[in-house]
Amino acid sequence: MTNTIEITKANTSKIHDVDFDNLSFGKVFSDHMFVCDFKNGEWQKPEITPYAPLTLDPSARVFHYGQAVFEGMKAFKDEANNVWLFRPEDNLERINKSAERLAIPAFPKDVFMEGLKALVKLDEAWVQPGFGNSLYIRPFVIATEPAIAASPALEYKFLIICSPAQSYYSGDVRVLIAEQFSRSANGGVGYAKAAGNYAAQFYPTSLANQEGFQQIIWTDADTHEFLEEAGTMNVFFRINDTLVTAPTSERILDGITRKSIIQIAKDSGIAVDVRPIKVSELVEASKNGSLKEVFGSGTAAVVSPISAFSYKGDLFEIPKMDNNFSSIFKEKLLNIQYNKSEDPYGWRQSI
Ligand code: COI
Repeated sequence: MTNTIEITKANTSKIHDVDFDNLSFGKVFSDHMFVCDFKNGEWQKPEITPYAPLTLDPSARVFHYGQAVFEGMKAFKDEANNVWLFRPEDNLERINKSAERLAIPAFPKDVFMEGLKALVKLDEAWVQPGFGNSLYIRPFVIATEPAIAASPALEYKFLIICSPAQSYYSGDVRVLIAEQFSRSANGGVGYAKAAGNYAAQFYPTSLANQEGFQQIIWTDADTHEFLEEAGTMNVFFRINDTLVTAPTSERILDGITRKSIIQIAKDSGIAVDVRPIKVSELVEASKNGSLKEVFGSGTAAVVSPISAFSYKGDLFEIPKMDNNFSSIFKEKLLNIQYNKSEDPYGWRQSI
């Protein structure tokens, strides 16, 4: 396969129809998309085309067996109108890890990086300036082969689409701690960004929504005693002045924002304890006042404070603190992402 990307530009831009001050997450898409097909045992010539619907055979395996994986990443614009990506190679590495678990062929890194940068460059007007504005980038792979045998497809599409974004959650997030449903299990696909992992959360999360909670914090499937992740976010707990978060495992997504926060916290002199944490410990810490903060982290959610959690019918409010960790981490992270500070880690990448 040659890496030269064939680019077909859109005749007109939709950008003038967009109200960038009132975006709901993931509903508006930029003018172009990246597409690359896999057939005859290899990835074919990559293309950037005008954003448009796909035509797929109704028997495409993705519709029947959910053979699909995705990623979430963002582009940011600095005050001089330069556009930056954040740790993009980590997303490629993770989508290929997810792909392996779903028996999908890996996508080549050089084609991904070239395609990603060319796409974001072409649609750079969609990366709005200003803190809090970004272009959410969604790479994904679907099994397109028209065949409904329950086995891995022989044909796939790798796509990248882009959506201008502001915050994912408006306001603080209230969460329910899972007691019955589970998100993932040992030996399962919890660590992968498999499409079905998210669909399987919709029903329990909609029940939680009816009770006034935006998200569920999932617990381990065996005992429901250990806190894991929130599905769209990893979760952190501040107990006294220590930051505690569950270790990643085959059940938990290895969040890029999560690992960036851990690094920033350590380098800010904050004690970080990556260890299994029990729901009973959280309840106890809330009762005795040592639980100072709970927050989620993710590409879409950035750093989202959690203001209350519910467990076994009891509601635990988390009082707001001055100088909270979540604001410190959010600011340090955004400063790196928006090129407002030094990036000692080499996370920021120009397009
Ligand atoms: C992300 O943060 O990029 C995610 O994948 C969460 C998403 C399902 C909106």
